[in-house]
Amino acid sequence: MKVPAQGLPPRVRIHEVGARDGLQNEKTVVPTEVKAEFIRRLAEAGLSTIEATSFVHPKWVPQLADAEQLFPLIGELTGSGAVGDIALPVLVPNERGLDRALALGARRIAVFGSATETFAARNLNRTVDGSLAMFEPVVTRAKGAGVHVRGYLSMCFGDPWEGAVPVPQVVRVAKALMDLGCDELSLGDTIGVATPGHVTALLTALNEAGVPTGTIGVHFHDTYGQALSNTLTALRHGVTTVDASAGGLGGCPYAKSATGNLATEDLVWMLDGLGVHTGVDLGALTATSVWMAERLGRPSPSRTVRALSHKE
Ligand code: HMG
Ligand code: MG
Repeated sequence: MKVPAQGLPPRVRIHEVGARDGLQNEKTVVPTEVKAEFIRRLAEAGLSTIEATSFVHPKWVPQLADAEQLFPLIGELTGSGAVGDIALPVLVPNERGLDRALALGARRIAVFGSATETFAARNLNRTVDGSLAMFEPVVTRAKGAGVHVRGYLSMCFGDPWEGAVPVPQVVRVAKALMDLGCDELSLGDTIGVATPGHVTALLTALNEAGVPTGTIGVHFHDTYGQALSNTLTALRHGVTTVDASAGGLGGCPYAKSATGNLATEDLVWMLDGLGVHTGVDLGALTATSVWMAERLGRPSPSRTVRALSHKE
């Protein structure tokens, strides 16, 4: 096994979001069986945390309206089967969503807040503080049931309506999410405008506010081609959880200009080269993204997928 480059962690946990963040923006509804097959293939490629779907209002995200049908189809992945015990987190905005997720046996949920008022209103129909109040009973009840809770925070760097988002504004909401009892915080660069210096400034400010690096994950979108540089910066800061989307699928239906997430293949290519262990088989993952791209009817935007699947 290669020794990781200096200043980098020996291993990184990839939080795969392709089936949720990736697909939620697709206009054509993907059949439930295809989603289940996608998730199974991701697990076989070595991804151990695969965000599966969202228990949100079906009118807000029609693509994920089949959460009740999908979840049982992939339930066997959470046992100690052929591909090991896979974590299948799901997004839950409120108690209604939590009830639906718990009824199906979900063991990991994620609430999703916003650092800006405009996105909180557009994505959750609430103010920032109103959404924190909505999450409070969700987190308390989930923790009481032994369920792991991730707190997403969107618009941590810039917002399409409000522009650059001040670091103290982000820190306040991040702290509030952690104070509710979230186990993990995922910093969302929803529209992909972050650059490395900004990433360091935010991580440092969060540490100073008492949020330890070990609880922080990073969620970069690649709009300006900065996602890998930002990821490397976060890894050098000590972050070991990185969100990525197979094939670079994605966006957010409630944030104009949110393009795809950092492609998992691009991330694995970089980490393999740096000697950082991920457990992911890049060939199997690429084949999965090519398969999914065929289902969606257009090629993957990931450069690594294109390079590795290129045939003369
Ligand atoms: P609302 O309209 O304010 O809801 O929406 P409400 O509480 O007033 O309830 C209205 C009706 O909806 C009620 O039904 C509820 O039962 C029902 P009625 O009594 O009128 O018949 N309802 C639900 N039904 C099913 N499941 C539920 C649910 N909740 C209420 N969970 C709400 C508020 C939060 C529900 C809505 O705004 C919503 O669903 N938003 C979800 C938006 C979303 O999923 N966005 C994408 C994910 S975030 C993202 O992608 C960013 C991220 O990737 C990080 C990054 O990149 O930044 C995570
Ligand atoms: Mg996202």
